[in-house]
Amino acid sequence: MEPTLPWSWYADPDVLRREGERIFARAWQYVGHSAQLPQGGSYFASVAGQIPVVVTRARDGVLRAFVNVCRHRGHIVASGEGARETLQCPYHAWTYGLDGALRAAPRADREPGFDFAELGLRAISVDTWGPFVFVNPDPDAAPLHDALGDVPERLAQIVDVDALQFRFRTEFELDANWKIACENFLECYHCAVAHPGFTAAVDVAPDSYRLAAAGLTSSQLGPLRQNGDSFLAHGEIERSQFHFLWPNFGINVFPGRPNLSCGPILPAGPERTRRFLDYFFAPDVDQAWIDELVAFDDQIGREDTALVEGVQQGVRSGVLGGGRLLSESEQLVAHFQRLCTEALGQ
Ligand code: FES
Ligand SMILES: [Fe+2]
Repeated sequence: MEPTLPWSWYADPDVLRREGERIFARAWQYVGHSAQLPQGGSYFASVAGQIPVVVTRARDGVLRAFVNVCRHRGHIVASGEGARETLQCPYHAWTYGLDGALRAAPRADREPGFDFAELGLRAISVDTWGPFVFVNPDPDAAPLHDALGDVPERLAQIVDVDALQFRFRTEFELDANWKIACENFLECYHCAVAHPGFTAAVDVAPDSYRLAAAGLTSSQLGPLRQNGDSFLAHGEIERSQFHFLWPNFGINVFPGRPNLSCGPILPAGPERTRRFLDYFFAPDVDQAWIDELVAFDDQIGREDTALVEGVQQGVRSGVLGGGRLLSESEQLVAHFQRLCTEALGQ
């Protein structure tokens, strides 16, 4: 059995600071979806790890992203989302175009040497896959599609992401380090123990439920249980797929009607995690089926929240230095932990 990461990494503010510099400042991260930028002259604010970002579509139609921090004294510039031609900082009203250029700053004319050209918002990398919008705070990042590996191809076998429509977002917080929430997502060893509803619908036996990790992604492929009578059996998708993109992005597709939910697992402090999940469905999926899926998914979510918060209580106690991973059933957790170790160096 492999050892886990040192448990001190799950409560230490200094580890979180290093993760910010070495992981979140240089990785592709999901921030929102294309329906948030319906036309030229729109924007939405989000975060990449703990870095505030803003994604824009200006009148020229170009998708851009910036660090959402004012070049004056550092206030957050944009919040929420909407249709606008400019972004105005609420502190002293410095005003930026959707191309990031500083357009106006009160009293700039009275300030010798005030150089608008050097005070634009800091640009970062942005790219899309289907309706999903990703940023990488590294302006020279390698292409998003390199990071996604074979996930788009695998997903295309069960659902056409371009045909999905955004329906709603859920948001929630957890009393746990972000890595514990990721690790919980990355194994189904706990499913038979902790998720009776899920296990009644999806075959979680080790020979049926497949795990695969490569590069920056990992995938879990679980068929519907034979002889199950779940609402998940009513639809064109016959197996679930759960994908993860390093460092913190999860995608869920359940069996049944064309559905996908996805979102980031965001550090909100050494022992606090913030999440949101965007739900997408094919346009013809009826509300009754969606309601059933949401109730099913909420139940799994409550079960997982209790588990990750329980782990946080244990690992933060400082009594034990670490734990153990099963080489087969927890191989995706091991993959994630190797990427953490490589990034943080020792
Ligand atoms: S901090 Fe933004 S205008 Fe002053
Ligand atoms: Fe779970």
